Amino acid sequence: MNRRTKDSMREDMQRALHGRSLVLIGLMGAGKTTVGRRLAQRLDLPFADADHEIEQAAGKTIPDIFEDHGEEHFRDGERRVIARLLESGQQVIATGGGAYMNEHTRQKINDNAVSIWLRADFNLLMKRVRRRSHRPLLQNADPEAVMRKLIDERYPVYAAADLVVDSRDVPHNAIVKDVIEALLSFEGAQQ
Ligand code: S3P
Repeated sequence: MNRRTKDSMREDMQRALHGRSLVLIGLMGAGKTTVGRRLAQRLDLPFADADHEIEQAAGKTIPDIFEDHGEEHFRDGERRVIARLLESGQQVIATGGGAYMNEHTRQKINDNAVSIWLRADFNLLMKRVRRRSHRPLLQNADPEAVMRKLIDERYPVYAAADLVVDSRDVPHNAIVKDVIEALLSFEGAQQ
C-alpha cells in the first residue's frame, strides 16, 4: 500500500473514532495485544496493554498478584487501571479477558471508546494459550473445561461490543485488516 493510501485510510479510521480510544476485548488467546499494537501503528496512536499496566502499577506479575492477593484484588486493580487509561487521551487499549465483565469498566468503555470484540472459537484459543503458561485462570487440572466455561459466561456479554471481528488461524495482519474494515464501516453506522 502506498503512503497516500495509508494516510487517507488513517484519516478515515480517525473519523470513525471521533477522538475516542479503541478498546480490544476478547478471551485469552484471541490476539488482543498483537492486533492492538499493530492497529495503534496504523492509526498512529499510542498503544497500552492493560495487563502490562496493571503489572507496572503493582510492581509484580499477574501470576504473583493472583497468588499473593487473590483474583478480587487483581480485578480491582484492573478496573482502576482501565479507568485511568480511558481518561488519558486517545489510544488503542488491549484489555485482559475478564475486564469487560466488570459492569463499571464496560460502562466506561461504552461511554469513552469504540470497543471491538475479537471473537475466536475454542480450538483456536486453546491452540494459542497452550503455548504459554502465564495465565493463572488456566493453571489447573482442566484448562479446557475452564475455557469452555469462560466462553459460555463471557461471550453473551462481549456481544455488547460496538464491533465484532472473527479472529482466525491466519497471520495477525489479516485480522488487523478485518478490524480496519469493520471500523470503516462503523463510521457509516454512526451517521
Ligand atoms: C484474564 C485474562 C488475562 C489476564 C488475567 C485474567 C481473564 O489477560 O488479565 O490472567 O480473566 O480472562 P489476557 O486475556 O490478555 O490473556
